[in-house]
Formats: sequence, C-alpha cells, structure tokens
Amino acid sequence: MTTLPPFIPPTHAAVAITAPRQPLQLTTLPTHPPLPSEALIRVTWTASTPLNLHRADGGLLLGDVSATNPFILGSSFGGTVVALGSELSHVRVGDKVFGFVQDGEPKEAGFQEYVTVPVWRVSKLPRGLRLKQAVAVPTNLVTAFHTIREDLGLELPWPIPQGWVPSRADDVILVWGAASSVGMYLVQVLRHWGYRNVLAVASERHHRMLKELGAGACFDYRRENAVEEILGHIAKQHDADVLPKVPYIVDCIGSKEGTLRPLTKIAEKGTKVAVMLPVINVHAARDREPDLEMDVSKALPGEWKEGIELKGVRTHGYAKNEFFKSHLQPEIIPALLEQEVIRPNKQRVVEGSTLLERAENALSLLRDNAVSGEKLVWRVADEED
Ligand SMILES: NC(=O)c1ccc[n+]([C@@H]2O[C@H](COP(=O)([O-])OP(=O)(O)OC[C@H]3O[C@@H](n4cnc5c(N)ncnc54)[C@H](OP(=O)(O)O)[C@@H]3O)[C@@H](O)[C@H]2O)c1
Repeated sequence: MTTLPPFIPPTHAAVAITAPRQPLQLTTLPTHPPLPSEALIRVTWTASTPLNLHRADGGLLLGDVSATNPFILGSSFGGTVVALGSELSHVRVGDKVFGFVQDGEPKEAGFQEYVTVPVWRVSKLPRGLRLKQAVAVPTNLVTAFHTIREDLGLELPWPIPQGWVPSRADDVILVWGAASSVGMYLVQVLRHWGYRNVLAVASERHHRMLKELGAGACFDYRRENAVEEILGHIAKQHDADVLPKVPYIVDCIGSKEGTLRPLTKIAEKGTKVAVMLPVINVHAARDREPDLEMDVSKALPGEWKEGIELKGVRTHGYAKNEFFKSHLQPEIIPALLEQEVIRPNKQRVVEGSTLLERAENALSLLRDNAVSGEKLVWRVADEED
C-alpha cells in the first residue's frame, strides 16, 4: 500500500524524549502506509516500563537526540488494525491486536496514536481479554521466553509434545525479583513447560500470588538473612557433592547492591546468571541522576566465584531466533492467553488529562519505585475499544 486510506490522518501525535532528564515532549509524526508485510494500527492503549525511565533519566542508548531528532518512547501497543499490506497475514482489518515493539523506531514505538509494524510483531487479542489487559503482556512475556531459551539455554518446545518432561525439570531455577513484571511471566512460563523447582524471591506480600503462578518456594529479599534462608532450603534438597546447587539464576532487577551483591553469595562454579540489563548502579530519583551499565562483566568484578556464566539479557534482539520471530507474537502468546496458561500482570491504570500527562505520570511512578507486582497501563486514545 503506497497511500493511506482516506479516513486515516497523515500525521499524528507521539511522546518523545528530546534531551535526557528534561520533560517528555509531544511531537508530530507522519502516519506510514503499511508495506506488504506490515499492519497499520490505531493505538488505544500502551504500557510503561522501567526502560522508559532508563531512556528518559539515564539517557540509555538514546543516540544523538534533539528536538529535531526526537526519541519516540514505547515498547508495546494495543489497538485496532486499520490497514494491511498486500501479503497474507494472521490478522485482518478491524481486529483488535497488541504487541511488543522497538522503542526509538519512529514507525513502531508504542507511545503514539498510529503505529506501522511488521506483522510478526502483532498478536491478535484473544477472546475474553481486553486491550487494557493485553498491553501488560507482550514486552515481558517475550523477555521471559528469550531469557529462558537464549540466556539459560533451557528447552521450550512448541507445541509441547504430549508427555514431554524437560531434561532439567528438577534443577533449581532461582528467580530473584519474581514480583516484577518480568519475574511473574518467567515463573508462569517455567511452570507450564514443566520446570518444577522454581524458587521465587520477592516481598512477602507477593508470595501467595507467586505460588499460584508456579513458584515452588518463596523468599523475602527484605529479610536480613534472605541469602542464608535460600541456601538452607537448597542444602536440604541436595547432596553436598552435587554442584552447582543452583544451576540457573535470573536476576529480574539488575540492581548492583539490591540483587547482584546477594547473588554473588549464591552463584557458584557452573551457575548461569542471566541479568536484566541495564545493571543499575544508582537508581534514578527526582533529584538524582541514575548510573546505568550495559556491560554485565563490569558488575562487581572480582566478587563472583570462579566459573560463573554471567549473561546480560537483551530482549530487543529476540527475533534473531527465527522460530521465535515467526511464532512467538503471532501464535504462542495469544494461545497461552486464550488457554489461560498465562495470566496478564495486574494492571494499574495511569490517569492524566492528555497523552503526554499520562506518559509523564507513569514515568514519575517508575522514578519513585512505586511499582510492585503490577504493570502500568494507560490510554493513548480516548475512544472506546
Ligand atoms: N534487557 C532486557 O531485555 C530487559 C527486558 C525487560 C526488562 N528489563 C529490565 O528489567 C528490570 C525489571 O523490569 P520490570 O518491568 O519487570 O520491572 P518492574 O515490574 O517495574 O519491577 C518492580 C518490582 O521490582 C521488585 N524489586 C525491586 N528491588 C528488588 C530487589 N532488591 N529484590 C527483589 N525484587 C526487587 C519489586 O518487588 P517487590 O514488589 O517484591 O518489592 C517490584 O515488584 C528493569 O530495569 C527493566 O528495564 C530488561
């Protein structure tokens, strides 16, 4: 398609960064007609993620940003397909859809009124779900799949063969930060694929929920002796000569002092430790610039035991796995939601009188560390969906 359908405006509003640690700005972008393998979507909902804060306050991988070269925010969209390219697709005009996209890409970033995205980034909304719920899912459910498969190297066959049991079904998988958006999806995916020794670390108020989602045991990171409690639990399960006792760790937070330091006491030779990047040396605050690091090997050097495999998770490259590219968003995610295998993160709707105000209000909640066991979602457009 080379021209837009007549009812689609040629330009639309988007939320952008024009300089680090400055208020977000509203900008005007062209609406792009879809190429043969793309969909044009009217966006009505989106979700905020800590990455927005890392970009806005930390200037993370922003490039040469300015008022004339703004960085468009948003890692997810939810809306309605209004036009399709000429190729055969799994969605049709009029379908309600959602997806995980690359922020900073002006055609597809989620904080704008229209996105034009490749159809492999599009999931059809399953029956019984609303867009408000669905936008809480794709970014971090994709992260969970990518981390388990590419960083931990564990199997996630699709479809799951009848009677299939993973070869590492009983290995300990420690999910530190399990009440984060990423953590809640990790626990659910691991349970569904038959990994049955998942230990979850989160505030105590989330333990019941995490056990429902599939955690075998839960630990409270706020307790002074949390590490000893975890090590004690594992020691009861294993003979002393089985090493490593914790072969797999996912650090869903990547905080130098809050998560990585305690993990140096748990990981041992042979442990794979997958860390959500960036490593946060200093968290952003209203009066404090954050300090972020994309090289995980610089996190506490010399303090890890020999022989640990430290991996920095970078989900934006997930489509290098061709199977995930063609199946994850078009097929697997909608199926898991429809079958109620995956429960969307609890949503907290961020209010505000304009698109810009809602984006800023969500950013403030992230800056204030006010997100716990939930996902921030908000309306991009006021129309009903
Ligand atoms: N590189 C990548 O591919 C990638 C992908 C996705 C996310 N990420 C990054 O991963 C991080 C998490 O993202 P998210 O969206 O999942 O975050 P989130 O949901 O906003 O995280 C909030 C949660 O963090 C937990 N938390 C904070 N400090 C903790 C600690 N010391 N120990 C255990 N839990 C702690 C809190 O747990 P309680 O409520 O239990 O206190 C809270 O529920 C962000 O920095 C994000 O940018 C990276």
